[in-house]
Amino acid sequence: MLILQDADHTELFAQLSAKSLASGPEYLTAGREALVRLLADPGLLDTVKLERRAGGYTRNLVFGDDRITVYAIVWSAGSKTSIHDHHCSCCFAMVSGALQETWYEAVDKTHVVPSREFMRNAGEIACMLPTGPNLHRMFNVSDEEAISIHIYGYDGRSRASSIDCEYDVSDPSHSQ
Ligand SMILES: [Fe+2]
Repeated sequence: MLILQDADHTELFAQLSAKSLASGPEYLTAGREALVRLLADPGLLDTVKLERRAGGYTRNLVFGDDRITVYAIVWSAGSKTSIHDHHCSCCFAMVSGALQETWYEAVDKTHVVPSREFMRNAGEIACMLPTGPNLHRMFNVSDEEAISIHIYGYDGRSRASSIDCEYDVSDPSHSQ
């Protein structure tokens, strides 16, 4: 087990990591339950040193082992991810602020069209599997900072990111 920051939730993460060997739906339920418990702690990130970057987002490692990697992500106003999918499970909770999450459907290996849009407000939790809809973009459309906790089902030491592929929005004029 590798703990890179002095978070107080080591046991909770370790138990969730063991559950990652369970079936997909069972693991997502466990991930959601873990995030509910984390959000209930007002001192959740008191011991985590959060980096901030104007115009962008920062991933701050909270916990990692050979099965899960947990980041606190600080989203500055206007920051957004690429349009991407994941090679692993992804469970996240909004700690503060709000993010727009857009879901997409792939039209080919590199292009997508938007399908659904959500506002993820503080306290909200969402979970997804690599075998389900997980092609999305997160965007802080507000002028306030947002912070979220993400639990990814992979070993953060084995690869740099939870992202599998990145996409561009399909230009409908090219399909005419
Ligand atoms: Fe993502």
